Amino acid sequence: MKAEDLKGDGCTVFAPATVANIGCGFDILGFALKNPGDRLSLKISRTEGIRIETRSAFDTIPAEPEKNTAGVAVQAMLDEMQAEFGVNLLIEKGLPAGSGLGSSAASAVSAVYALNRLLPAPYDNHALVQFALEGEKIASAGQYHADNVAPCLFGGIVLARSAQPPDIIELPVPRNLFCVIIHPHVEIKTAVSRRKLPEQIPLKTAVRQWGNIAGMISAFYRNDLHLLARSLEDSIAEPVRSGQIPHYDEIKQAALRSGAIGCNISGSGPSVFALTTGIENARRICASMEKILNENETRYDAFVSVINPNGAEIISVD
Ligand code: HSE
Repeated sequence: MKAEDLKGDGCTVFAPATVANIGCGFDILGFALKNPGDRLSLKISRTEGIRIETRSAFDTIPAEPEKNTAGVAVQAMLDEMQAEFGVNLLIEKGLPAGSGLGSSAASAVSAVYALNRLLPAPYDNHALVQFALEGEKIASAGQYHADNVAPCLFGGIVLARSAQPPDIIELPVPRNLFCVIIHPHVEIKTAVSRRKLPEQIPLKTAVRQWGNIAGMISAFYRNDLHLLARSLEDSIAEPVRSGQIPHYDEIKQAALRSGAIGCNISGSGPSVFALTTGIENARRICASMEKILNENETRYDAFVSVINPNGAEIISVD
């Protein structure tokens, strides 16, 4: 494909934070938030190749395309299209790396979503997942998992029944569902965190986990918040990972005491999420979680968001 065939010279995209796993659904469940998120501007260039400029208040993001999840993802797409042009990317990070909020996925998704907008025959979201996953893979010790990339693209709550090949199922979102996020200021690299997980689990643990996953999916379909509360537990990753998160047990207990439906680790952490209905409940639960970190003089960010029904969005087209 040539640059002349495209529907524009560039565009700007917003890609939201995502909460992966949702407790029991390690690598298969996730949802999108409204905020925070990343912004990416893509410009078509007559010169082949990818050039990346990054702006981040938090950390240094690699500008080499082969080390950047946006660069790898968009390269996979350019290869598939046999593109005879290149792209310049400006990535403005609203999500810190290693926060558990799907930062690497947001970069990858925003790049492929932006290029897709300019195509005469755009790919659908199911096809875009595969390109974004090629980028996400470099942040995940070479493993494919679609539980950030898919909700970032589709919005809402999604089940990634399989990541390779991707099989993405959009799930119903319970009415008026809100999410509270507490992001303590420590960095946990997904790749490192994944290596600490057990390779094998006892059958008893597996049975408990898949009971909870089935319960959670049923709860979404039935809008049954009591069932969601019973199902929002994790017997596999949480016991291994929670020790890395400052004051995790106290934060979780504070959220549950304040009436949260459930509370668990967002992705591989350190962010912690709690679910509730309505903005008032969300603010109250957020304050109770913040109190723990304030009392312990631990720095953090806090966010309250509805579940984002749309996922990535085009902000403008040039
Ligand atoms: N499912 C992945 C993990 C998400 O828990 O490692 C990483 O954000």
